[in-house]
Amino acid sequence: MRVSLGRVRQLFTMQRVLTQNVARLLALSLRTKLSPSVRAAAVNMSTLLVNRPQYSWLRELGLGEDNDGVYNGCWGGQGQVVTSDFICTISWKDVLGTCGSMWGTLRKEKVVWSVWADVPAPKRGEIVRQIGDALRGKIKALGSLVSLEMGKIYVEGVGEVQEYVDVCDYAVGLSRMIGGPILPSERPGHALIEQWNPVGLVGIITAFNFPVAVYGWNNAIALICGNVCLWKGAPTTPLTSVAVTRIVAEVLERNHLPGAICSMTCGGADIGTAMAKDERVGLLSFTGSTQVGKQVAMMVQERFGRQLLELGGNNAIIVFEDADLNLVVPSAVFASVGTAGQRCTTTRRLMLHESVHDDVVERIAKAYKQIRIGDPWDPNTLYGPLHTKQAVQQYLAAIDQAKQQGGTLVCGGKVMDRPGNYVEPTIITGLPHDAPIVHTETFVPILYVLKFKTEDEAFAWNNEVKQGLSSSIFTKDMGRVFRWLGPKGSDCGIVNVNIPTSGAEIGGAFGGEKHTGGGRESGSDSWKQYMRRSTW
Ligand code: UN1
Repeated sequence: MRVSLGRVRQLFTMQRVLTQNVARLLALSLRTKLSPSVRAAAVNMSTLLVNRPQYSWLRELGLGEDNDGVYNGCWGGQGQVVTSDFICTISWKDVLGTCGSMWGTLRKEKVVWSVWADVPAPKRGEIVRQIGDALRGKIKALGSLVSLEMGKIYVEGVGEVQEYVDVCDYAVGLSRMIGGPILPSERPGHALIEQWNPVGLVGIITAFNFPVAVYGWNNAIALICGNVCLWKGAPTTPLTSVAVTRIVAEVLERNHLPGAICSMTCGGADIGTAMAKDERVGLLSFTGSTQVGKQVAMMVQERFGRQLLELGGNNAIIVFEDADLNLVVPSAVFASVGTAGQRCTTTRRLMLHESVHDDVVERIAKAYKQIRIGDPWDPNTLYGPLHTKQAVQQYLAAIDQAKQQGGTLVCGGKVMDRPGNYVEPTIITGLPHDAPIVHTETFVPILYVLKFKTEDEAFAWNNEVKQGLSSSIFTKDMGRVFRWLGPKGSDCGIVNVNIPTSGAEIGGAFGGEKHTGGGRESGSDSWKQYMRRSTW
């Protein structure tokens, strides 16, 4: 696959069209076959974004007029070509090629793994440290590209590169700490020891909303464990995948290591399916919707492979009568409208004790009206567009359903009259806690406010949804805090007190239960998911 950049338009318009076009072109690429010369003729190089002075930082990221979309030690991708005069050309090489195809990549992985597995873990940590440093050096440019391609605000783009940097630092330390216990053997003169070994090849499939951080969480930990990686990012964020891989590849190559240790392929569901079904992929880490995750899980399970699933969330904040409302209001606003509601940890349900319900709704609605909406690159902007037109349709459909099911719009509810996929951040009250729409994760900025009377009721409502990712309570009652953290409290993977549901800490294990998939990434003992245990 090849990716190249298109001509300049207003940023927010471009972001919208960019993401839509890549998706459309990928679909076209399956049925269009052009020779490279036809592609070159179809692109007017002078209009390319990368040739404009104000976008020179794209060159700093190693992006050029025409970019290969597959890396496995060398860059490749030619053959089937689809051309856009706006963003890019995308092409697939014959699947049997050695460079520029996933099959070629998978064949290489075993060879490079035998090199990487022999590198002592602390030395692998040193390579990961260098990857973190290389990312530090490009953090602003890479954050800008994330913002441009995904549509999140610039500080969030930079923030997720920072998470990759942080998890690299974490992994460096971990590379000297992964160990197994020596247990008392019942047999005289024997030793009983657990040793952790790498699983081999880790396939990493990431989603559009965190096109850098989630790869980083997996990549840094998988590497120090002694695994090699094959990454497929979202089809709508291919330039970010290419730019990140260029940074990582440079570090590997500088250290005379095979670049295929961190392979990457752009692509869509066909590539994802191939990764899920391929026995050479020892662990498949998938971040995305519950619906797709279920299909992936079944394909991996069918071959008794390992999987790490980070799927949907339907996260609640519960506000008790004794809560500090000065904490509640900014927290609820940040968690419900941040990233335009497109985080798996976004707050979708706000449960308010009846004694504070009206007051909090009023204060949050007031705050919503002050949210600075605009161009994601403008430092004053707090809220940007949705990633795709399809998400706008889902937003409208959810609002319709919420109204039909008894909800009242407090604010928002409309598509905004401006270029780009902008929708109004929305608050809906009056729905029953078990209304079907309240139990549905719609990946848009709609907040359902529910009114409760008792702690038992609120905890039960928190747990009654299918998903189990993140949850928060706001209270000063320590007894209640411990009940919330205990066996009868929140059933989620992330259980917070007096902070919002979103915003992962790389030092902890990130993930959730039930339909969220049960996987854990990043810190704590998540590294165990990337290794197999041998009992001596
Ligand atoms: C966060 O809330 O900071 O897709 C992290 C997601 C998650 C990451 C969320 N995998 O939204």
